[in-house]
Amino acid sequence: MTDGKQQLVDVVIIGAGAAGLMCAAEAAGKGLSVVLLDHAKQAGKKILISGGGRCNFTNYYVEPAAYLSANPHFCKSALSRYTQWDFIALVDKHQIPYHEKTLGQLFCDDSAKDIVNMLLAECQQAGAEIRLRTQVEQVSYSDERYQLATSTGLLSAKKLVIATGGLSMPKLGATAFGFDIARQFGLKVLPTRAGLVPFTLQPNDKACFEAISGVSAPSVIESLSGTSFEENLLFTHRGLSGPAVLQISSYWQEGEEVRINLLPEISDDQWLLNERQKNGERTIKTVLSDVLAKRVAEQWLEHQQIDNKPLKQFDDKQLQALAQRLASWPIKPSGTEGYRTAEVTLGGVDTDELSSKTMESKKQPGLYFIGEVVDVTGWLGGYNFQWAWSSGWACAQAL
Ligand code: FDA
Repeated sequence: MTDGKQQLVDVVIIGAGAAGLMCAAEAAGKGLSVVLLDHAKQAGKKILISGGGRCNFTNYYVEPAAYLSANPHFCKSALSRYTQWDFIALVDKHQIPYHEKTLGQLFCDDSAKDIVNMLLAECQQAGAEIRLRTQVEQVSYSDERYQLATSTGLLSAKKLVIATGGLSMPKLGATAFGFDIARQFGLKVLPTRAGLVPFTLQPNDKACFEAISGVSAPSVIESLSGTSFEENLLFTHRGLSGPAVLQISSYWQEGEEVRINLLPEISDDQWLLNERQKNGERTIKTVLSDVLAKRVAEQWLEHQQIDNKPLKQFDDKQLQALAQRLASWPIKPSGTEGYRTAEVTLGGVDTDELSSKTMESKKQPGLYFIGEVVDVTGWLGGYNFQWAWSSGWACAQAL
């Protein structure tokens, strides 16, 4: 329906990413007139590149404890009403083949395109209008309606849903739009920082470990606050990455060190003493190469400035200290690679401002925030998409 040049609709959703597409399909399915806007030329760009092009779309083990937020309870309602099983049922309905890779992580067998096409088909079937390449120039509120001036025309809606995501990967079209709108309407936005992001190392550490860039090792990484993850660590030419590092980065604060257990399989701190007893002629490098990748053993010993001597030349205290250091190696990153490579943004629209049931602003009627723009951030492994699906779905029920 149009009024002069202005199009009147029930709902405008800004951001045709994971949360926006889910919300649009659900809201239109209820019979509402829905326009979904995006400045990009393609919907769901992050979905397309996610999971190495295969989209880790959810996780068998989704639970609120896998989410970071100033209010850890906020995510519970939406996650319990639209669960991983609901999304899996949708994927099954569209006959998309998928598999569990590891730790409950579900990936498409073929391509992330399957997920985007599924969401687009749901939107089309429900009658949601998707308008791409559209810049939102101004948003105002009067007479209980939102007026939007956009590069493709004027819109007026009773309800406005912000699904513009976080700041990570500006190359893919990430902007601070959602945070700006929140502030425009007087909502508090908590400080943001890059999450699920590789660490950069201090110059000396970097110089030592870039020699083994591309090598990965099983590890347990622990943050100062005591959170730990047991997954692979990857040495890179900039620093440290791999799932263990990405996970712990969300719990890391500037200036802190993390502790890395390079030998998670070995719990006995006397093991080097035992090795010496078995054969004291073997060098420390040879012994470490039994339990670590050879190049990791070499670089690590160099980094620790430990001479490659036979075990018999180390005393008990030295061997115990070495075993302890391998089990709890402290390293202080110089920083992170930042939003350029981060998978997510921590912080965002303060959940105290929103209803956990509907995602609506408590002070601004008809204004909703869903997905990553909200201060809810999941672990690596399909948790962030599940939050997008669950919050988008929960919001749509209330529109
Ligand atoms: P999302 O970022 O998906 O969508 C926001 C949309 O808003 C975009 O389409 C954007 O163009 C649009 N937009 C932004 N500003 C705008 C403006 N000013 N005007 C108009 N439109 C605007 N998660 C997971 O669970 N499993 C995985 O495998 C991965 N893998 C992964 C890989 C990489 C490389 C990245 C960067 C991220 C992941 N993630 C992930 C995280 C996941 O992609 C992310 O949490 C969700 O896409 C968030 O969904 P949203 O809908 O909130 O934002």
